[in-house]
Amino acid sequence: MRILIFGAGALGSLIGALLSKRHEVHLLARPEHAQAIKDSGLRIEGVINETFALETHVDLEGVPQPDTIFVTVKAYDTEAALDALMKMADDALMVVSLQNGLTNLRLYKSALPHKAVMGVTSMGANLAGPGKVVYAGKGNTTFGHLANNPDLSREAADLFNEVGLGARSDANIEPELWMKGIINASINPLTAILGCQNGALLRDEGALGISRLACNEAAEVAQGIGVQLPPRDPFMEVMGVMKATSKNRSSMLQDLENGKRTEIDEINGEIVRSANKIGVPVPVNQTLWTLVRCLEHREI
Ligand code: PAF
Repeated sequence: MRILIFGAGALGSLIGALLSKRHEVHLLARPEHAQAIKDSGLRIEGVINETFALETHVDLEGVPQPDTIFVTVKAYDTEAALDALMKMADDALMVVSLQNGLTNLRLYKSALPHKAVMGVTSMGANLAGPGKVVYAGKGNTTFGHLANNPDLSREAADLFNEVGLGARSDANIEPELWMKGIINASINPLTAILGCQNGALLRDEGALGISRLACNEAAEVAQGIGVQLPPRDPFMEVMGVMKATSKNRSSMLQDLENGKRTEIDEINGEIVRSANKIGVPVPVNQTLWTLVRCLEHREI
């Protein structure tokens, strides 16, 4: 099978490397990262220590028609990615989103309902430099299809399982996407504002209290808009992720440190927008959204 990783940062590069054990993989990546991989291969360190030779591209020109595309771009780039991907959609194409953010589902549903699979993963990956990825932690991945086509999500899970990445398919993916969004909303902005690793939040009563409030608000919004969350306590999940990824610097913290835009609009911002529609007050999420936007030096 020919696989394209659309937006190969840390997670996308790692997935691409592992899938290349069985498939022909092409990475669409930023020029520096793509060049480093061309020159010396993609180095993965951590859970495994291996170098992978992969085809890289900096734009879609010259990319041969793939059978499957994994989309790992930031949530604020999803619309642009879908515009490009719709042009590549042939009958056989499967498009798999593995992204943070609560706004993606709506966009995929309207652009590619019969071809898209939504994924949620807890795999840990950090970019250590061009051509270098730290595989910080094995994780579980859940895939769900959008239209009535369970074969698609099963196929995505099979691709992962064949190369040792634990994955399952679930007919109802929205609750899992919201649970992940709640986890992100309760960890990422606090670590970005405080400049700390995820695990530090567990050691500070005040910070943990704010995280709990953000989590409770977000869970109330999910229920309010009709999402039946999985039968697991959301804040226990949040604390579990803090513990499991205690040494991680969250993606939002890394984005701020690198002077990049964060996904705050697509995480806490989406919680606030959804809350406003149903008249539920979410002052903690509103505050976190505002503060991270201030740190990005954007107009509020
Ligand atoms: O965005 C992130 O950094 C990750 O999704 C998570 C789970 C919060 C771990 O750092």
